[in-house]
Amino acid sequence: MSNAMQDMHIDIGLVNTIVARSSLSFINGEEGILEYVGYDIDDLARQSTFEETTFLLWNRRLPSGNELSDFANQISSNYDLSESMWDMIVSLPRDASPMHALRTLTSALSLEDPGVDDPSEEANLRKSLVMLAKMPTLIAGFDRHRKGLDLVRPDTTATIADNFLYMLTGEKPTERMARAMDICLILHADHGFNASTFASLVTISTLSDMYSAVTTAIGTLKGPLHGGANQGVMYMLQEIESIDAVEEYVLDKFSNKERIMGFGHRVYKAYDPRATYLKTFAKGIAQDTGNTSLFEMSQKIEEIMDREVGAKGIYPNVDFYSATTYFSLGIDLDLFTPMFAMSRVSGWTAHCLEYLQENRLIRPRCDYVGPHKQEYVSISQR
Ligand code: ACO
Repeated sequence: MSNAMQDMHIDIGLVNTIVARSSLSFINGEEGILEYVGYDIDDLARQSTFEETTFLLWNRRLPSGNELSDFANQISSNYDLSESMWDMIVSLPRDASPMHALRTLTSALSLEDPGVDDPSEEANLRKSLVMLAKMPTLIAGFDRHRKGLDLVRPDTTATIADNFLYMLTGEKPTERMARAMDICLILHADHGFNASTFASLVTISTLSDMYSAVTTAIGTLKGPLHGGANQGVMYMLQEIESIDAVEEYVLDKFSNKERIMGFGHRVYKAYDPRATYLKTFAKGIAQDTGNTSLFEMSQKIEEIMDREVGAKGIYPNVDFYSATTYFSLGIDLDLFTPMFAMSRVSGWTAHCLEYLQENRLIRPRCDYVGPHKQEYVSISQR
């Protein structure tokens, strides 16, 4: 280690490193508390909307009635895509994964934005709003293209949640479905310096642009240890098939040292408050639809996990019950993570906007452990 690095410490995975200050989301992992700008997640889930929550994250205060309707109008007037973006959607391979498609299409939005490299706060807010408004259209558009269905243009009179379900299915969702979707969007909107948010900050800290920051974040969210876990939960439930097979399945995973998707969290060592809310919700939808088997299987997994690893602080995280909620809404498994992205874009951009106010290039060091003073041997002699 060089002299300049003597006072540094190694923190693999940045488990014990605070990278910056933020006034966006507060997480108390021991007590299972999550607040956005001081508002409890439970209050927001019960009383707010995704549009209002996004306003809160971007402005760090709740809007007045007029401000909220102006903001919602600005978003909905940006739902639609240019003809070249619609053409790009239908030019993508039908068998591409929706998360890869979303990453590519979000990046492509930058190509038609003349202000792409304008670094002003006003321009950054505008670009954030463009991505927030258009990502649902990109996801729904690609899903219909891959299924060989006609593309559905957005309904600019509808909320983000309502419009997304409409574009996906071509039918107006029921109020209950739209509200379920809206609540999922609120619950996923922000979560401190999680991996994808941190990735977006690394990009923006170089003074790159907002589209690049969000594209980076989408690529990071995709991983199965992060946002990809909700899809993994559903694959697991489908693999288990019945409640009688749960115990053997979970214990097998343990003996093979494999992880149970939807459990554990870097910060929460208590029940994830988002999972508490989603659990109640998943139960309600299961009872409504009369199909309770997935919910019962999930509960059984939770029971066994609690018995086996509860003492280590491993509880269900947000992905565990969001998976069953989305599935009950009739949404395809591989759309779960893109839907996470269309919510988290509000948090990614909020953090980028906040970080830029006191920007410093994020550039950690590594502890070099390789060889020194090696003799260079010419290629003909090796
Ligand atoms: N199943 C079984 N054991 C687990 C799980 C799990 N899901 N999660 C953690 N553990 C165990 C580990 O095996 C380890 O045990 P050990 O100390 O005996 O070796 C211990 O708990 C600590 O695990 P780490 O990997 O060190 O914890 P870390 O904070 O790095 O990981 C993570 C957090 C990645 C979320 C982990 O819990 C995991 O892999 N979960 C499954 C994937 C998942 O659900 N991800 C979504 C997270 S929420 C989100 O991103 C929106």
